[in-house]
Amino acid sequence: MSIPKRDTAAEQLSEYSEEHEDNHDKITTTWGVPVPEKDASLTIGYHGPILLQDYNLIDEIAHFTRERIPERVVHAKGAGAFGYFEVTHDITEYTAAKIFSEIGKKTPIAVRFSQVAGELGYPDTIRDIRGFAIKFYTEDGIWDLVGNNAPIFFVKDCALFPSFIHTMKRNPKTHMRPDYDMFWDMITLRPETTHTCLIFFSDRGIPASFRKMHGYGTNTFAFVNAHGKFFYCKFHYRSEQGVENMDPKVAQKLAGEDPDYHLRDLYNAIENEEYPSWKFYVQIMTPEQAEKSSYDPFDDTKVWLHSEYPLIPVGRFTLNKNPSNYFAEVEQIGFDPAHLIPGE
Ligand code: HEM
Repeated sequence: MSIPKRDTAAEQLSEYSEEHEDNHDKITTTWGVPVPEKDASLTIGYHGPILLQDYNLIDEIAHFTRERIPERVVHAKGAGAFGYFEVTHDITEYTAAKIFSEIGKKTPIAVRFSQVAGELGYPDTIRDIRGFAIKFYTEDGIWDLVGNNAPIFFVKDCALFPSFIHTMKRNPKTHMRPDYDMFWDMITLRPETTHTCLIFFSDRGIPASFRKMHGYGTNTFAFVNAHGKFFYCKFHYRSEQGVENMDPKVAQKLAGEDPDYHLRDLYNAIENEEYPSWKFYVQIMTPEQAEKSSYDPFDDTKVWLHSEYPLIPVGRFTLNKNPSNYFAEVEQIGFDPAHLIPGE
């Protein structure tokens, strides 16, 4: 008796398996970095508890719980584009990450710009910090650099993040925003917010365009070189279009007339082949320097002084392609600060 042939859809997995025979032994994180195994949690002893540092487990569960996407709780309104990163300077003494392995090497990237507190339909030209997240599609998996247009952040301890964000969201009784009492209550009670507030209320609080602002990784990261030596680092990206901000009166008018002003500006520039670009730099601090530092180099409410830790040029990135389907390619893109690659 012959075995009845299954229909094409039923054969999909077997065909996929045959086509990808080389990958049968390869297990990766959800961002494509190879790992030896991921079918057991890290525990203390046989019965646990399970360790929070088990990033394979956290990745697995976080990916699962976020398979359906509602509006982002922060950074809801955004614009995205695609392009490439190119190495212009050798930093292999600091990192073995393959993306930086040789001058001239190009890596595809995706960038999503956003405002922090407004909802999906919110006008672009409000006063806010802007998100500036980069996804590097490297040969060793995906590296997400989830940055902002400010080198520092409002709070040091992420336990305060939900409260802080709630002060910029809707008042739970009136359902209106902004509620200045909520905002200033938090700011006056947490003096570490002053530094970022100075940027927030300066001209930089309303950029003229996503293309005309600098970006920063803000947090302190670590590089590991080929000899296993590590260095702390901070990432900076500086606009080659220059920095330009918007008069608040113009911003207010545009909020009514053209709520998608920043999306339009980015889209049109790329369609008109005026491709925006940024130079990419790192600041490097050795572990010995970190030990002796007079300020906490891991506190993201503080900058690292450029006079002590100068910007070291690394490369340049350019955005030269708009999404062909915004929802599929930008709204659904997900950035995760834990998505690092070997060499970091
Ligand atoms: C302090 C603790 C922080 C917490 C708990 C936090 C939490 C979050 C959450 C929940 C999202 C939404 C993710 C999604 O739905 O896709 C988000 C998005 C984002 N965060 Fe944070 N965040 C924190 C700090 C920061 C800092 C310091 C930066 C900048 C360096 C930053 C930059 C961003 C950006 C750019 C996005 C939007 C990414 C995109 O375009 O999809 N966040 N954050």
